[in-house]
Amino acid sequence: MTKTPITVTLTGAGGQIGYAALFRIAAGDMLGADQPVSLRLLEIPQGMRAAEGAALELTDCAFPLLAGVEISDAPEVAFDGANVAMLIGSRPRTAGMERGDLLEANGAIFGPQGRAIGARAADDVRVIVVGNPANTNALIAQQHAPEVPAERFTALTRLDHNRAVGLLAAEAGAGVAQIDGVTIWGNHSATQYPDLSHATVGGAPALEAVDPQWARGAYIERVAKRGAEIIEVRGGSSVASAANAAIEHVRDWMLGTGERRTSAAVVSHGEYGVPEGLISSFPVRSEGGAWRVVEGLAVDEFSRQRIDASVAELVSERDAVRQLGLI
Ligand code: NAD
Ligand code: LMR
Repeated sequence: MTKTPITVTLTGAGGQIGYAALFRIAAGDMLGADQPVSLRLLEIPQGMRAAEGAALELTDCAFPLLAGVEISDAPEVAFDGANVAMLIGSRPRTAGMERGDLLEANGAIFGPQGRAIGARAADDVRVIVVGNPANTNALIAQQHAPEVPAERFTALTRLDHNRAVGLLAAEAGAGVAQIDGVTIWGNHSATQYPDLSHATVGGAPALEAVDPQWARGAYIERVAKRGAEIIEVRGGSSVASAANAAIEHVRDWMLGTGERRTSAAVVSHGEYGVPEGLISSFPVRSEGGAWRVVEGLAVDEFSRQRIDASVAELVSERDAVRQLGLI
């Protein structure tokens, strides 16, 4: 091993997504095939045994890139020196709930974790929040870590992006590799806007490859409500696809996207009229270890209304967590 290990702290390591993510991270899927990784697993006391079991299995895989595994139920210990923080630990919704219904139950987790990240993580820490409602939980964590540049706090909308790509490919009868320029705007919720206005299939406009009415109707509904569809069909919220998306988000953030575009919820600096400070999904590329919002895309009236509706929901979630005293 020649490279210094990167320390990855993963919360909710005893849960489903944690279990689906850990082995791929240790195998090199996230940070590269020559990059050693030290894992720090954060759990609550009730989840410690499951996290310990995962750690035993990690040992049993004898991954050459795995430089160590430590488990703790104390955020200050688990985030000490963290270069990457994957905040997964929190309660998933069940059938009939919207993700926003978890705001009060889960929001309280992210202030203390944000504080511990601010106090203990490495200077280059990058944070991805997966636990729902992800955008607003990321905002809570960010607000409690004034020592860390706000841009280092992000939330996962890559799963929505991947769903949007997968469903477009199926409709167009194309391979996913032929698709680019899909954007998820706004909140990781049913108001999100999967936008094909600038998407291409095999280099040609996506809106010529599929029925534009479908693209601006049933498609949006299907992508935005895919999480609920999975809960209904599977009997529990998405796991492997969520772990995969979180891994791809971190991989692209650290290693770059090249010219390819993806979606991530990042801190707004006012791009596309999204109020500054909200953590909202945008079209992004990653370069030099930083997400950059792709600017200058034309936004027509239909898209404007959709983006505004999802952003309005983010504003109301921010106001709700203010009222709860969480920020
Ligand atoms: P799970 O219930 O299987 O696991 C959650 C784990 O988190 C449990 O082991 C629990 O003990 C632990 N936990 C709870 N509070 C914690 C805390 N304060 N610190 C550390 N660990 C803590 O749930 P899951 O299926 O792994 O889902 C986790 C979260 O991810 C849920 O909120 C779910 O809604 C969300 N999710 C988000 C996306 C997305 O695209 N953003 C996709 C899928 C799931
Ligand atoms: C998803 O999109 O699958 C997750 O956010 C889980 C959920 O509650 O929908």
